[in-house]
Amino acid sequence: MPIEWKSALSFDEKIQMINFAQLLLKPRHMTRERPRLPSTEAASSTDNAPSLRQISVEHVHVKPRSRLVLLTDPKGSGADRLRLLRMRLRELKDLTKLQSLLITSPMPGDGKSTIALNLATALAERGKRSVLLIEADLYHPSLAEGLGLEERGGLAECLENQHDPMSLLRCLEPLGCYLLPAGKPVSNPTELLESESFSSVMRSLSPHFDWILIDTPPVIPLTDAVSLSRRVDGSLLVVRADRTPRDAIDQAVSLLGPKHVLGIVLNASDRLNKVYSKYYGYGHYDKK
Ligand SMILES: Nc1ncnc2c1ncn2[C@@H]1O[C@H](COP(=O)(O)OP(=O)(O)OP(=O)(O)O)[C@@H](O)[C@H]1O
Ligand SMILES: [Mg+2]
Repeated sequence: MPIEWKSALSFDEKIQMINFAQLLLKPRHMTRERPRLPSTEAASSTDNAPSLRQISVEHVHVKPRSRLVLLTDPKGSGADRLRLLRMRLRELKDLTKLQSLLITSPMPGDGKSTIALNLATALAERGKRSVLLIEADLYHPSLAEGLGLEERGGLAECLENQHDPMSLLRCLEPLGCYLLPAGKPVSNPTELLESESFSSVMRSLSPHFDWILIDTPPVIPLTDAVSLSRRVDGSLLVVRADRTPRDAIDQAVSLLGPKHVLGIVLNASDRLNKVYSKYYGYGHYDKK
């Protein structure tokens, strides 16, 4: 049965709204029958794979950044909504065996990398779950640099020179999640991401992780996210409140294909932050 995207995911009361990250997920019945895609079909973090603890991974201590709300403001509405997003994704995982998740958005600057890092932190629960974030925006990577990590190669080198991705991971402390940085591509990033090497990287990583999140470039100006969405179990579309135009959201959903989009994360919605602050009296949004 075709999914009626607009009636299923409009900004109205039919949708469960939760905010930064406010998640507009498809109703359960729309995801239950979705077949798993072949890229991670054989993978499970517990199946015969050496535990991550047995593999030597560099641990790096990162400074809590202002937008890392689970660390900087764990009682605030942003952290609260991220926990809700985590809960909804875990429910979906129970239904669909969801493991790899693309994080994309219609336009540049909607908040993909911010949501991806926050969500990886939320899902990892300080190391209780094995969570990997892959920086697959090879045009304008921002995560590794924003976290102050030294450049030591990453996804680009795995795709171009068949480097072992496990050897280039960093474990981010105190977040408890892992990062495969973008690295520095020599050849065309779009072609690299479309290559068979990407599937091979995913195959070698997926046995080690409960979740693999993939931060990508925006959908409308580039084809990278669309091609990557075919190699993962589902995609989340980040849109920025009061900024991402509605027709850009429609265009992004149509480019990705509605069946590949699990839901929409509404980033930076001030309206619900104010409601939360007033309702629960924490007043976090009045603080500076
Ligand atoms: N909820 C938020 N509130 C305030 N600022 C935010 C929020 N989310 C993101 N930002 C800021 O907006 C800018 C863009 O965010 P981010 O880099 O996450 O977007 P992006 O979609 O990954 O961008 P790009 O398309 O360039 O990769 C950053 O400076 C970030 O700190
Ligand atoms: Mg980004």
